[in-house]
Amino acid sequence: MSSKALLKSVPVKSSEITPEHVYLNRRQFLKAMGIIGAGTFLASCAPSAQSPQPTAPEDLKASAATDELGDPLNTYEEITHYNNYYEFTTDKRDVAMLAKDFITSPWQVKVYGLVNKPKTFGLEDLLQQFPQEERIYRLRCVEAWSMVIPWMGFSLSALLKEVEPLSAAKYVRFESVMNPDQMPGQKQKFYPWPYQEGLTIEEAMHDLTLMATGLYGKMLPPQNGAPLRLVVPWKYGFKSIKAIVKIELIDYEPNTLWSTIAPNEYGFYANVNPQVSHPRWSQASERRIGESGRRPTLMFNGYAEQVAHLYKDINLKDFY
Ligand code: MTE
Repeated sequence: MSSKALLKSVPVKSSEITPEHVYLNRRQFLKAMGIIGAGTFLASCAPSAQSPQPTAPEDLKASAATDELGDPLNTYEEITHYNNYYEFTTDKRDVAMLAKDFITSPWQVKVYGLVNKPKTFGLEDLLQQFPQEERIYRLRCVEAWSMVIPWMGFSLSALLKEVEPLSAAKYVRFESVMNPDQMPGQKQKFYPWPYQEGLTIEEAMHDLTLMATGLYGKMLPPQNGAPLRLVVPWKYGFKSIKAIVKIELIDYEPNTLWSTIAPNEYGFYANVNPQVSHPRWSQASERRIGESGRRPTLMFNGYAEQVAHLYKDINLKDFY
């Protein structure tokens, strides 16, 4: 598996973010142009660019496109109606309904800390400045369910380079929006809001680390973290923080929401590792949403070739 196959970069301008019903046709076109790699080939039953068909797009997509391992994409419906977003509710199937009116415009992200050029970006600046690409990634939740998701977005490294990190910057801290009026779950005082996450600077600068702005060729819906979320595909899903408003470069390992609540259960690294059990359940296998039965969990969620070198000096069992 080459990193080229994984990245499948499909540059798309924000002005061209596709309505869902033409998503497949655009993919066909890009395939014909040789822009999408073999792993994303469409099944022969998919409509061609010349003869668009009024068939339900989610069904087609689910059977037509795959990740680089050949696993089919989850449907738009699955990806947008089975969510973890504790700012709204702990009930995965109610997030979409509770988040549907969440206001995501205007939106600003402050990037600051140990950098030469701190800057606050409006969402529009980000969409204009950084070409949007499609990335098909597996998402493996620490709760042992998983999905295959076609994100749109841009590399976090491109954004960080803009602010010129200082050599003293060793970690990146991310913070989600705080808005209890719109996010009923934030009235739950048990959780140390706002949601926070962190990466080492090497992880943050890795090519696979994505700032997602969309999925299935559409703008990100609120339940998936609109308008801007992190996606770190080799780590458990809780690292992929939603609705980001602050990105701070620092020289110490930051606290995270989950490691504050339960440090023995949710470590800072949280790399997908089938050999290290969660204290309350095994991580050896997972339930792919839309499939029956379980499948083995892959080391680093199948991205070992790309990321294992980041951890060559640490004992992965100790750095859960
Ligand atoms: N980000 C915030 N702000 N709040 C959350 O509750 N949940 C995390 C992560 N990001 C969460 C979050 C968890 S546990 C997972 S598995 C993923 O988002 C789920 O992303 P999805 O709903 O898009 O599948």
